[in-house]
Amino acid sequence: MKVLVVGSGGREHAIVTSIAKSNRVSKIYAAPGNAGISEIATCVDIGVMDFEKLVSFAKEEQIDLVVVAPDDPLVAGAVDAFEAAGIKAFGPRANAAIIEGSKAFSKDLMKKYNIPTAAYENFTDADKAMEYLETASFPIVLKADGLALGKGVLICNTLEEAKAGVKEIMLDKHFGNAGNTMVIEEFMTGREVSVLCFCDGTTIKPMTSAQDHKRAEDGDKGLNTGGMGTFSPSPFYTKEIDDYCMENIYKPTMAAMKAEGREFKGVLFCGLMMTPNGVKVLEYNARFGDPEAQVVLPRMKNDIIDVMEACIDGTLDKVNLEFEDNAAVCVVLASKGYPVSYEKGFEIKGLDTFKDKDDYYVFHAGTKLKDGVVVTNGGRVLGVTAKGKDLFEARANAYSATEWISFDNKYMRHDIGKAIDEQ
Ligand code: AMP
Ligand code: GLY
Repeated sequence: MKVLVVGSGGREHAIVTSIAKSNRVSKIYAAPGNAGISEIATCVDIGVMDFEKLVSFAKEEQIDLVVVAPDDPLVAGAVDAFEAAGIKAFGPRANAAIIEGSKAFSKDLMKKYNIPTAAYENFTDADKAMEYLETASFPIVLKADGLALGKGVLICNTLEEAKAGVKEIMLDKHFGNAGNTMVIEEFMTGREVSVLCFCDGTTIKPMTSAQDHKRAEDGDKGLNTGGMGTFSPSPFYTKEIDDYCMENIYKPTMAAMKAEGREFKGVLFCGLMMTPNGVKVLEYNARFGDPEAQVVLPRMKNDIIDVMEACIDGTLDKVNLEFEDNAAVCVVLASKGYPVSYEKGFEIKGLDTFKDKDDYYVFHAGTKLKDGVVVTNGGRVLGVTAKGKDLFEARANAYSATEWISFDNKYMRHDIGKAIDEQ
């Protein structure tokens, strides 16, 4: 069969790599893809939001399955557009992707269906938000309602900071229309874990867990980024916690979306915090995480196409989702200066070293081909993933593999997976 993957980052490279392992697949396309993806798929120069062109390409090429990976097109209805043209597409429709597209929606859903999350209020009026803050306790968390590249969350320690935050989000519109509505919520503490789940609208099956590192610098300092590295599984996410989440978070979320007439099919990413008062939902995403996919998918034993089709067809209950009994660590190689400003266009050397090594992967995020040479083309450039028999070995392997790669202004965190020393 022929598959088209929509997207262009490290996550998409990991998805395409998994799809390429399926013996049911004869041809893979990616729109727009990147330099790494182009080694295993045919990249077509169509943007992820250009639904008209994507749909006509899929029709012309008689694509059997489209996988929509990023949040923007999902929230804007890419899956609906493919389905309207009679093309099978993996991912939630717009009416379900709203679980990521609107934080106010997801908070109200959790409240209505008793799914554990931080206490909150939604605001559409900046004055009312300011008034609410006067009697709030600090720290407090402000969230722009809409999509903001993972950056629309402000943790404020004082009333002054929080008021400045309301101004930034609602009045100055730093995150554009994403800030028309704002959620103010209770500050929680605890370890975070990302659990990506396959969903068919009725059945939900969690994949192995992962932990992201969102801050730019070692010791979780510096600005929030798209993610500087991940490890999987999280040793803190025990079987007992998984059982609790299944009964109190995963199944209730599936049932809630169905009850609302918003059947969720695709990948539901639950961002969880293990607080002293139990596990609570920080956020939902309607897609694979980036760079969570880069550690979760290499450990998946199933044929990803079988699982994706089961999600679309409503037969996920028949699938036995299996992961290898090992670990993986991904270290992101970024451009110095990310996430603020950075230079691009530097030649990347050492990529070939990964070619004949089974348990090592170099996923391209911001790269491009220039005169036949792979050059840096973004803030996050590559994700170096390695597997190992346990997290310690995987981490050592991943860090040694980061040394195979060189480019000017190469930057990475040196403490990805440090938390595992505390288990
Ligand atoms: P989100 O985009 O909602 O996942 O938020 C980004 C990051 O902000 C999370 O990964 C947490 O580290 C932090 N965060 C979000 N909400 C809260 C909260 N209620 N309490 C503490 N930290 C939070
Ligand atoms: N790694 C977090 C995300 O994909 O949103």
